[in-house]
Amino acid sequence: MSRQTPTGEKPPAADVLTIFGITGDLAKKMTFRALYRLEARGKLDCRIIGVAINDWGVEELREHAREAIAATVPDPDEDVFARLAERLAYVRGDYSDPATFERVAEAIGKCHQPVFYLEIPPSLFATVAHGLAGAGLTDGARVVIEKPFGHDLASARALNEELRECLSEEQILRIDHYLGKEPVMDISYMRFSNAVLEPIWNREHVSHVQMTLAEDFGVEDRGRFYDAVGAMRDVIQNHALQVLSLVAMEPPAGNHPDSLRDKKLEMFRAVRAADPERYVRGQYAGFLDVRNVAPDSTTETFAAVELAIDNWRWSGVPFFIRAGKNLPVKASEVNIVFKRPPPLGFGPGRLPEANEMTVRIEPEPGARLRIFAKQAGEEAFEVADLDVLFEKVPGEDPEPYERLLGDAIAGESQLFTRQESIEETWRIVQPLLDDPGPVLPYEPGTWGPREADALTRGLCHWRDPWLPNGT
Ligand code: BG6
Repeated sequence: MSRQTPTGEKPPAADVLTIFGITGDLAKKMTFRALYRLEARGKLDCRIIGVAINDWGVEELREHAREAIAATVPDPDEDVFARLAERLAYVRGDYSDPATFERVAEAIGKCHQPVFYLEIPPSLFATVAHGLAGAGLTDGARVVIEKPFGHDLASARALNEELRECLSEEQILRIDHYLGKEPVMDISYMRFSNAVLEPIWNREHVSHVQMTLAEDFGVEDRGRFYDAVGAMRDVIQNHALQVLSLVAMEPPAGNHPDSLRDKKLEMFRAVRAADPERYVRGQYAGFLDVRNVAPDSTTETFAAVELAIDNWRWSGVPFFIRAGKNLPVKASEVNIVFKRPPPLGFGPGRLPEANEMTVRIEPEPGARLRIFAKQAGEEAFEVADLDVLFEKVPGEDPEPYERLLGDAIAGESQLFTRQESIEETWRIVQPLLDDPGPVLPYEPGTWGPREADALTRGLCHWRDPWLPNGT
């Protein structure tokens, strides 16, 4: 991967990582584990300053880190933890108080290449960015912003504008953890390293594309967050559309670090604004009883939508996406369904199905090509699946947050989302936010409301995810 900036300079690696929101839930569940894993691999070479409102000192932070790591890393190595703990410092402060940023500046001291990671409520992103700028900390800095980036097109634009008052676009690294997933990165590797795929990856040969991001659990303790968001904003506007861009974009050319992101943006621009008539929302029975969910909430916990891409490669090919909570399985996959061959002059004639390529993001990342062969002893067709599991180095593959934090520290920006792409993704889903239609009930453990089946009807049926037990 190239390390050039868009201007061609090599961005220096960070010498200090400052994490706002270090005492929060995301840090507890993800960040300390990611930092521990980076440390264990020898990929951490900077100081780490945690910032939060809690009245803590560095010893409390170390203790908190120890507990978070014990809860998320099996059998942590004491030496690795000791090295990580040694890097830590803590600054207490209110993000709206300029004195907090003076204290951060003091803690940063002589370090001159800071990365700031904002894992804080979105309403505070701009406040912190301005606080950093006010303390003279933004020159040459990189600022990593957690999702959600806006809650609609207007708010995403407004947030971008506020951030751009004190940061340049190159300084802002917007996280979508799906882009740090190994199998999601595999999509572009697989597409563009196999010359046999490219000639058939288009409207001449593809009938439609499906994507499923399913979870077999509910909203759990995230009622407050989720009720304000729903499935469309939580996973489709970001994770699903990012995966879609890798499935549908044109091949990047040249080794400029922005080549890939340019192609993704071009793809987003070609996606037609979604049609509310081609959108189904569901809410699982029991959602209204979740703590901090409004008793009359109409938030969707399931969303299914059909999208269209108006370009030479994909015009006329429907893209069906569904995502939700409390569905039958936890699975994420993409199915490229090819056109059926014409009726044959032998055997049973017309094939009941078509070739299909599945890219499984989880569980057990892999790819499957469904082909047909003759059934032994019969004048009939038989499904023959060619399955491959993506190579894994057990326990070693970098996890999404580990990869993305490591990239932010190293100055790699390719896996972060640029402003224009974020705005395009909001543009695509905005009609569905403006005109969401009714929310339909479904029972936990089912594939959402029955009306979701009507979206694909006439062309196909939703594919049951390919699961590791061979089903
Ligand atoms: C998060 C959403 O961004 O992605 C969650 O807020 C969702 O609601 C999660 O569960 C899914 O991520 P993953 O990596 O578990 O598929």
